[in-house]
Amino acid sequence: MTVIRPFRPVLRVAADADIIVIGSGMAGMVTALRLAPRKVTLLTKTPCLTGGSTAWAQGGIAAAVGAQDTPQSHAVDTMVAGAGLSDAPTVDLLTRDGAKRLCEMIASGAPFDRDQAGEILLGREAAHSSRRIVHAGGDATGRHLHKWLADAVAQTPSITVQTSAFAWDLVVENGRVCGVVAFHEQGGWTLHKAPFVVLATGGSGQLFQRTTNPAEGTADGLAMAARAGVKLADLEFVQFHPTALVDPKAADGASMPLLTEALRGEGATLVDGAGRRFMVDEHPDAELAPRDVVARAIWQRLVDGDGAYLDIRAIMAGDSAARFPTVKALCEAAGFDPAREPIPVAPAAHYHMGGVATDDCGRTSLEGLWACGEVAATGVHGANRLASNSLLEGMVFGHRVADDIAAQSVPAPRDLDISVPAVPATDVAAEIADLTAQLRVLMYEKVGLRRDGDGLDAALSAHGDLAEKISEIERAAGHTKPTLADVRRWGELLNLALAGRLVTLAAAQRCESRGAHYRIDFPQAEAATGVRQFLTLDDLQQRAGAQEGHRDDTNTAAALSA
Ligand code: FAD
Ligand code: SIN
Repeated sequence: MTVIRPFRPVLRVAADADIIVIGSGMAGMVTALRLAPRKVTLLTKTPCLTGGSTAWAQGGIAAAVGAQDTPQSHAVDTMVAGAGLSDAPTVDLLTRDGAKRLCEMIASGAPFDRDQAGEILLGREAAHSSRRIVHAGGDATGRHLHKWLADAVAQTPSITVQTSAFAWDLVVENGRVCGVVAFHEQGGWTLHKAPFVVLATGGSGQLFQRTTNPAEGTADGLAMAARAGVKLADLEFVQFHPTALVDPKAADGASMPLLTEALRGEGATLVDGAGRRFMVDEHPDAELAPRDVVARAIWQRLVDGDGAYLDIRAIMAGDSAARFPTVKALCEAAGFDPAREPIPVAPAAHYHMGGVATDDCGRTSLEGLWACGEVAATGVHGANRLASNSLLEGMVFGHRVADDIAAQSVPAPRDLDISVPAVPATDVAAEIADLTAQLRVLMYEKVGLRRDGDGLDAALSAHGDLAEKISEIERAAGHTKPTLADVRRWGELLNLALAGRLVTLAAAQRCESRGAHYRIDFPQAEAATGVRQFLTLDDLQQRAGAQEGHRDDTNTAAALSA
C-alpha cells in the first residue's frame, strides 16, 4: 500500500469574515442573525439550510409564557429532570431568558399556533408541571420555525451562507482558534480565517444504530473540538426517545420517525402486544414519567417479546387529530392507520446532553471558540434533558454567544500555512459505510439504553479494533480530487469513531445510574459520584491506558495546524 502523507494541494482561501458559524439549525441561525451587521460566514454541510434536527422538531419549545406559569416552575422541572447534575444558575438563566426571548419571537411574528381568540396554544409534555410547550403547525414546529429563521437569514446581507460545505477541522495557532478548514462542493478544500468560530453543529444521534436524528447528526463539532484539545462535558448522557416508530420496511440504521411526546401529553397510552397498558405499573406518572424510565420500560417489553405500541386511536379519531399532521403522515408512510391500530414503537437515540463544555456565554476552553445548541454542554440538562428544552437552549445561548462575541475585539488572523488531509478513494466507499454501520451497532448494543462494565469494556476493545481498520484505510488514502461525498463519508466516520470512543469511556467511568445513564451493575445513583464529568481527549486516553487510536486523531489535528 502506498503511504500518502497529508498533502498540500490547492487550498482556497475564502474571503475573510468576522465570525464563522458552523451549522444552520436553530443555534447557528439565531447566532448569525443576532450578530448582524458583523460579517458572518455560515457553513452547512447540506445542500440547503434545512439539514440537522431543528427542522424535524415536533413537540415545540418549552417556556413559561402562560399566564399561570413562571420561569421558576420551569427551572424546578428542568432541575428535577437533570437528576442532580444540572447547573442551577444556568438553568435559571435558561428559563428566565427563554421566556423573554420566546415572547420577543412571538412579537416579531414567529408562526406559533393560536386559538380562535388569538392566544398562543400551549401543549403538555412529560415531566413538565404545566402546559408550556409552544408549537407551530401542530407537530411541525421545527419545519415552520426553521423556515422563518432561514427567511430572515436570506434577508440579512451581513450573512454569507455557504451550503454543501463540510467543516473538517478547526485551525488553532498559539492557543487560539483562528479559522476552519472546510471542503466545499464548489471549490474543494478551503481555509476560512476568522478570529471567532462558533460550533453549532448539532448532535450525535448517528452514533447509534437506532436514532431519531437526521443523517447530519454525526458528532462533527464534538470531534473537531476534541481534536483541538477542548474541554468536553457530560458525554455519557445520551437521551433515548421512547417512541420512535418502527417501520418494518425501513432500511437497517435509517433514521426512525418520531412519534412526539405531545401525544402522550394529550392522553396517548403505551400498550404491549396483548393490549395491556404497562406504564401504570412502572411509575406514578405512567406515560408521562421521565423519558429514560419510559424508554427502559419499552425496551424491556421488546426484549421480553411482549411488543410495545403507542395507542393514539382516541386522539386521531377526535378533535385533537388536527394537532398532529406530521405524526399522521409518518404513520401512513410506514403503512399504519393511526386511527385504527396501535403503532409499534422502540426507543432510539435522540439527544446528546453531553458536548463541548461552555460557560453561560457559550465560551469553550479554547480562546476564540464558542459553542451553542446541541453540540454544547452548557450544564442546563444535567443527566437528562426536559422535553422541548433544546430548541429553547439553542435560542437562548445563540443570543448569548452573539452578544459575547460582539463585545470583543480581536485582529483578523495573519496568513496561515495549512495542509489538508488525504481522503480515501471512492472505491472504498462500501468499506467505510460498513465500518460506520459496525460502529453504530456496537454503540447501540453496548453503550445504549442499558450499560454494564463488561459491555463497556468489550466496546472499548472493539473501538480499538475499529480504529485499526480505519488506520489501514487512512494509510492507503490519497484521493487528490475527492468529491464532497467522499470527504463527508470519511470525515463523518472519523468523527463518529472518535466521539464513540469518548462516550464509551465517559460511560465506563461513571459507576452509578443517573438520568439517561443506566448501569445494570450500578443501578443506584451514588452521592459520591454525583458530579459532572469534564474530559479532554488527553484525559480520556490517560485514564483508558492510552492504548488506542490517539495517534490517528492527533496526526490529523497536527497536520491541520502545520
Ligand atoms: P441542528 O438543528 O441539528 O443543526 C446542525 C447543523 O450543523 C446543520 O445545519 C448541519 O448541516 C450542520 N453541520 C453539522 N456538522 C457539520 C459540518 N461538519 N460542517 C458543516 N455543517 C455541519 N427539541 C425541542 O426542543 N423540541 C422538540 O419538539 C424537538 N423535537 C425533536 C424531534 C426530532 C425528530 C429530533 C431529531 C430532535 C428534536 N428535538 C426537539 C431536539 C432539537 O431538535 C435539537 O436538539 C435542536 O434542533 C438542535 O439544534 P442545533 O441548532 O444545535 O443543531
Ligand atoms: C417530542 O416532540 O417528543 C420531542 C421533543 C424533544 O425532544 O424535546
